[in-house]
Amino acid sequence: MAVSNSNLNDSVAQQILPDEKIGQILLTKEQISSCIQHLSCRITQEYADSEKVIVVSLLTGAKYFTNDLFSIVKCEKFKIHYVQVSSYNNSLKSSGSVEISGFDKINFCGENVLIVDDIYDSGLTMSALLALIKNQNPKSVRTCVLLNKNVARKQQIEIDFKGFDVPDCFVVGYGLDYKGQYRDLQYIAKLEVSG
Ligand code: IMP
Ligand code: MG
Repeated sequence: MAVSNSNLNDSVAQQILPDEKIGQILLTKEQISSCIQHLSCRITQEYADSEKVIVVSLLTGAKYFTNDLFSIVKCEKFKIHYVQVSSYNNSLKSSGSVEISGFDKINFCGENVLIVDDIYDSGLTMSALLALIKNQNPKSVRTCVLLNKNVARKQQIEIDFKGFDVPDCFVVGYGLDYKGQYRDLQYIAKLEVSG
């Protein structure tokens, strides 16, 4: 379903820059919330016997996903830490280098760790985080993403909890941005950029 600018509410329409537009909606708000419900059940079951789980949520994209996921899980054993990660630098492709901050204050030794990101694309972000965390000898490390982009990976890693597969295109909405825009869309759509 393609959405013309006139179908969007004012606040969203104002965000649209001349050379880009929202294309096909890939996932509706309802599809996203039922998927999160399902993921929350799987995560709860997986950690049923664990006393504590450190959740590492990758900002800024995974903020909405993490908040919604753990507001359903509602269990104090999940301790959420937000870590700032960036690799896209306002572009449509990963720069290839991953910058991580806010990470040094967390002690992962002997802990169960769950990394939560919005989208698994080249794999560079997750593999950089995994390497840093594994270096501290955690008890377990698992990974969770809302979206799995169907693309050739630069780093292949195992994703334990996966929401949806999406095609190899740039997507926005529900936390995912382009140049800081479109995060607040309640659905996930393709972004069409000309030029
Ligand atoms: P990777 O390191 O290439 O796997 O990419 C992971 C990060 O890149 C994600 O955490 C997102 O912030 C960003 N990213 C990858 N693909 C997209 C996209 O299609 N839209 C918006 N952000 C993306
Ligand atoms: Mg990100």
